[in-house]
Amino acid sequence: MEDLKVVIGSDHGGFHYKESIIEYLKSRNIDFVDVGTYTRESCDYPEIAKLAAQKITSGECNRGILICGTGIGMSIAANKVRGIRAALCGDTYSARVSRAHNNANILCLGERVIGEHLALDITDIWLKTGFEGGRHKRRVDMIE
Ligand code: RB5
Repeated sequence: MEDLKVVIGSDHGGFHYKESIIEYLKSRNIDFVDVGTYTRESCDYPEIAKLAAQKITSGECNRGILICGTGIGMSIAANKVRGIRAALCGDTYSARVSRAHNNANILCLGERVIGEHLALDITDIWLKTGFEGGRHKRRVDMIE
């Protein structure tokens, strides 16, 4: 696994999975920054998405994980930031390929959509998979 520095964030809809994923990161000694939210109180996902995206574009972190109820709001918001390639994943194949082909730098998950164990498997695969480069780099460069 490359040297990972992960930024993680959620709104209230993704709070429980954020806590579970933080436990996973700790158990594997993966360095992370938690940009909130820190309680179950209702909050606005675009603010959290922006904070996380900035940690990536500034170079402080090299991967991000964002969770909301569906993962959709987080992915829309994060992808507004130049340099962010946020992938909403609900299966392990998409998680792997979003890294290998799209060089996704943020993983988005929907706590109200997928089960917790699947979310953890997706996270594990997504963090372990590297970018294949080659023809995929040309395509990613076209996006940038
Ligand atoms: C919050 O109720 C919910 O709208 C949010 O977590 C997310 O699903 C938005 O995309």
